Amino acid sequence: MNRNDSVAVITGASSGIGEATARRLAVAGLHVTLIARRLERLQNLKTQIEAAGGRAKVIVADLSREVDRIRVFESVQADGGADVLINNAGFGWYGYFKEMPWKTALEMLQVNVGAAVHLTSLFLPEMQKQNHGHIINIGSISGSIPSQGTAIYGASKSFLDSFTTALYRETRGTKVNVSVVRVGPVLTEFCETALGRENSGHVPTEKIGVTAEHVAQRIWQLWLHPKRVIYIPRWLGVTPWVELSFGWLEDWIGPLLLKLNYKT
Ligand SMILES: NC(=O)c1ccc[n+]([C@@H]2O[C@H](COP(=O)([O-])OP(=O)(O)OC[C@H]3O[C@@H](n4cnc5c(N)ncnc54)[C@H](OP(=O)(O)O)[C@@H]3O)[C@@H](O)[C@H]2O)c1
Repeated sequence: MNRNDSVAVITGASSGIGEATARRLAVAGLHVTLIARRLERLQNLKTQIEAAGGRAKVIVADLSREVDRIRVFESVQADGGADVLINNAGFGWYGYFKEMPWKTALEMLQVNVGAAVHLTSLFLPEMQKQNHGHIINIGSISGSIPSQGTAIYGASKSFLDSFTTALYRETRGTKVNVSVVRVGPVLTEFCETALGRENSGHVPTEKIGVTAEHVAQRIWQLWLHPKRVIYIPRWLGVTPWVELSFGWLEDWIGPLLLKLNYKT
């Protein structure tokens, strides 16, 4: 395989981590397939990537919809298939679960979990047939520390952790890699998008975090040197240990923090 001719399919490429990752991989010579709902954003990104000498393709899709995911897969296959699939599309919501509209919870499960699982089920067998490939799922440290205020979001990321680990163990020893990126706070539109949703409060981490470009650089390195899991930033590798050792403390402090933060 010539790495420079590799095709990377990136969901949620219209902003934040997905956009920065598409730019980074395009600079490295990969052909990037950009997927999201906002056509104008994707087209602008494609134009910029091509102006810089890269190659990009746009597929507009609402990944909460099964029919759109299948269309994405068929379109990518028609062009020769994918070498890398980055399941990045996702969104959050902050507040008491009882305040979360079911419509939002369902959409979150459809995008954060459903799209990643469905696209993986479509692309993984093709990667196994071609005997190479890498599936990278964008998780969160919320998957390791279940937190008040992000019940469905954290559970969706825990699902991705478990799903990825299982697939990693199923594919170990083959040339198909599966990884999860456990990301801490990143300065993107993530918090603003959450706040725009019905009944959501401000995500407490909205003013802190690493840049999307930093995450993109780590994803690029992950592709070069595949691993089951990476943490961004690295020191957040302590999070599973924190939950095991201090979960009892969060049982006490967590409810107070949510009471103070929600809708203030
Ligand atoms: N930012 C953080 O602090 C943070 C921390 C940990 C993990 N993460 C994870 O990182 C990933 C990327 O988030 P981000 O921070 O880059 O946020 P972002 O800037 O809001 O980007 C989210 C992306 O997901 C896409 N998306 C959302 N719903 C979609 C749908 N129904 N169909 C297709 N695309 C959809 C959006 O595109 P359209 O709106 O154009 O469809 C957008 O491109 C998410 O999985 C998030 O959970 C973020």
